[in-house]
Amino acid sequence: MKKILVTGGAGFIGSHVVRLFAKKYPDYKIVNLDALTYAGNLENLNDVESLSNYSFVKGDITDETFIDQLFAKEHFDAVIHLAAESHVDRSIMDPLSFVKTNILGTAVLLNAARKYWQDMNGKLFYHVSTDEVYGSLGESGFFTETTPYDPHSPYSASKASSDHLVKAYFDTYGLPVVISNCSNNYGSHQFPEKLLPLMINNIVHSKPLPVYGKGDNVRDWLWVEDHARAIDVIFHKGKLGETYNIGGFNEWKNLDIVHLLCKIMDKKLNRAEGESAKLITFVKDRAGHDKRYAIDATKLNKELGWTPSLQFEEGLDKTIDWYLANGEWIENVTSGAYKDYYKDQYVSR
Ligand code: NAD
Ligand code: TYD
Repeated sequence: MKKILVTGGAGFIGSHVVRLFAKKYPDYKIVNLDALTYAGNLENLNDVESLSNYSFVKGDITDETFIDQLFAKEHFDAVIHLAAESHVDRSIMDPLSFVKTNILGTAVLLNAARKYWQDMNGKLFYHVSTDEVYGSLGESGFFTETTPYDPHSPYSASKASSDHLVKAYFDTYGLPVVISNCSNNYGSHQFPEKLLPLMINNIVHSKPLPVYGKGDNVRDWLWVEDHARAIDVIFHKGKLGETYNIGGFNEWKNLDIVHLLCKIMDKKLNRAEGESAKLITFVKDRAGHDKRYAIDATKLNKELGWTPSLQFEEGLDKTIDWYLANGEWIENVTSGAYKDYYKDQYVSR
């Protein structure tokens, strides 16, 4: 019996990881620890909450006393750490909350693991991170596991810092760790501050589609369930102290992806061809906007045998269908503080 602490399990990627682990491994006990910030939502786990091997604890990873008590009580065998402030635009507006959660929160968890894992045999601290730590690419080339860190946003700088802390605990204390750095995820349950769900929601409501700058920045998109599958593989087969890059070799210019969404949604919403694309509005660029991200996932593929399961067009289709079928979910998450966020971020941009 393995007892796994998943942090941030009520968020977008975390809920997919919790779902995969709780359903696929009935012998594991999954404890989901989440502070339920604006991004955490227990509705994301409706189909998991009644499973006998799943439990939820509300709490903050930066609260050292609380985390220590939890480790003392629960005797975890492993941690899969996803809890974070995750949105670049919010990190530009409020960098300190990113420093607190992503850096201090990770340090508090690492330190609790170090203190309470007297016997480190068979234990694992898995840190889920981002490709944004590597900075920005030019027209060609890929991020590999040996690309030097060069973060630009407060978000990516805080994630880079947390990665370094994880490596420092491996080197200094021999804490059994593994890190993965993944490209941009898309799929169901993503909060509509990120590009794809924001655009899908705005298309549904015929609202302007705010494309930053010229829309020529490039992102490498991976279906969230394939990210969760990669985490499963790395959790079970990854080598301690190693980093694995996760990505689907699937690069898109922002403007192209928004046009593709418009085209698919015109059909699904029975609109005339080209109608949704008329909503595209170019707005002021993001400060420090990274030009291009692209992941080389060869190591994960060659050493651990992982490949993405879905083609992008199929994943996008499933994702759009999920948002169209879950109007109530999107209504709930956009009805409160989201309105203020949207106003601050977009109205006089
Ligand atoms: P998210 O914002 O959807 O979810 C974050 C979760 O963490 C939420 O449930 C939130 O309530 C919780 N949380 C925030 N602060 C907390 C705190 N102090 N204590 C406890 N819980 C707290 O994020 P996501 O997109 O699901 O990302 C999850 C992880 O994956 C993050 O570490 C992120 O850096 C990483 N990542 C994300 C992407 C992506 O494309 N979204 C890509 C690569 C890596
Ligand atoms: P985002 O989903 O915020 O992910 P990240 O910044 O972590 O890559 O943004 C993806 C890309 O889309 C990024 O280049 C910024 C751009 N973007 C827009 O053009 N308009 C928007 O409203 C948002 C949220 C993002």
